[in-house]
Amino acid sequence: MIKAAIIGLGKMGMSHAAILGGLPNVDLVAACDMDSLLQSAFKKLTKIQMYTDYKKMIDEQKPDCVYVVTPTKLHYDMVMYAMEKGCHVFCEKPFALTVEQGEKMVQMAKAKGLVNQVGYHNRYIGTFNEMKRLLAEGVIGKPFHFMGEAYGPVVLKSKGGTWRSDKKNGGGCIEDYAAHVLNLINYICGSNIVDCRGTQMPSIFSSEVDDAVYGSLYLENGLKGQISVNWSDDTVRKMTTSLKIQGDKGKLEADATTLKIYVKEDRPEYGLKQGWNFKYITDCTPMVDFNLRGEEYTAENAAFIHGIETGEVDTRNSFEAALQTDYIIAKMEKDAELM
Ligand SMILES: NC(=O)c1ccc[n+]([C@@H]2O[C@H](COP(=O)([O-])OP(=O)(O)OC[C@H]3O[C@@H](n4cnc5c(N)ncnc54)[C@H](O)[C@@H]3O)[C@@H](O)[C@H]2O)c1
Repeated sequence: MIKAAIIGLGKMGMSHAAILGGLPNVDLVAACDMDSLLQSAFKKLTKIQMYTDYKKMIDEQKPDCVYVVTPTKLHYDMVMYAMEKGCHVFCEKPFALTVEQGEKMVQMAKAKGLVNQVGYHNRYIGTFNEMKRLLAEGVIGKPFHFMGEAYGPVVLKSKGGTWRSDKKNGGGCIEDYAAHVLNLINYICGSNIVDCRGTQMPSIFSSEVDDAVYGSLYLENGLKGQISVNWSDDTVRKMTTSLKIQGDKGKLEADATTLKIYVKEDRPEYGLKQGWNFKYITDCTPMVDFNLRGEEYTAENAAFIHGIETGEVDTRNSFEAALQTDYIIAKMEKDAELM
């Protein structure tokens, strides 16, 4: 049985708590949040030991692993403390407020030999994984352009007052929304974004943070493309993330439900006919024991726990991989200042 503890029981912490509660090999022993409503609800409805001080929680409960699910500004201190005490750590995305913090967390995890994971859940979505496989196997030939997109209705009027509307706390569309797309591009293309140009980060309704992110991106392997992300878009009901990759022998387009594959010639070895082919999430996703918030969230938690239990660590969402996303976020923020 793996003893787990959570810091932060907001929207995402609640999801992790629910999923961990459903995993048979996990005992969620403790949780920490200063919010009095959450404190009383958890005390009333669960047997989880509640804390308001995460250091006290870790010292007293000595969990095997700690989930850090707080606003981004707090990740560094909490992750470092947990690792100092020998806990494996799952940290929500984006990884850190600065690349320096991210580098220190990567070093510490390596030095201590701890399982480490960041919550970029798109890497557990079947359609994106199938896209990655087909791209790597050359089904669309040599890729020459990509387009990464995400749209959603997070900020639809002028208001502030939460950590997401405060840059110093890790707020803004680039940290909240674009981070997912940047991270997904690195993963699917099998190469990291190393440069950017023409970055635009306009504020549409927010006064202190960006509401959209647009620009050109350059991968280490030479592939180029664009990103278009907007969290002030009321044309969609919830976050919609997609990636299109054009190659000289075809095209791949994926979102969380469908993978569209266009090939110029029949590829019977892949079951593909000349023209458009469709694969659905139901064809592409390995089964999980239960689906809570989305099967990818169950899968990422199960993978983290499995790594701790068996030593077979799934490194697809390691601290190191997440740090690559922080590098390009920092570059894009700098580039946007020039525009
Ligand atoms: N992977 C995803 O799809 C996804 C989705 C949403 C949020 N997130 C990430 O999860 C993290 C949390 O986001 P959220 O939406 O749950 O935020 P939230 O504001 O809903 O919740 C944050 C919680 O942290 C608590 N908190 C703040 N300071 C604390 C402290 N010192 N000790 C203990 N608890 C403290 C707050 O009281 C609150 O309950 C962020 O990093 C965010 O980017 C990831």
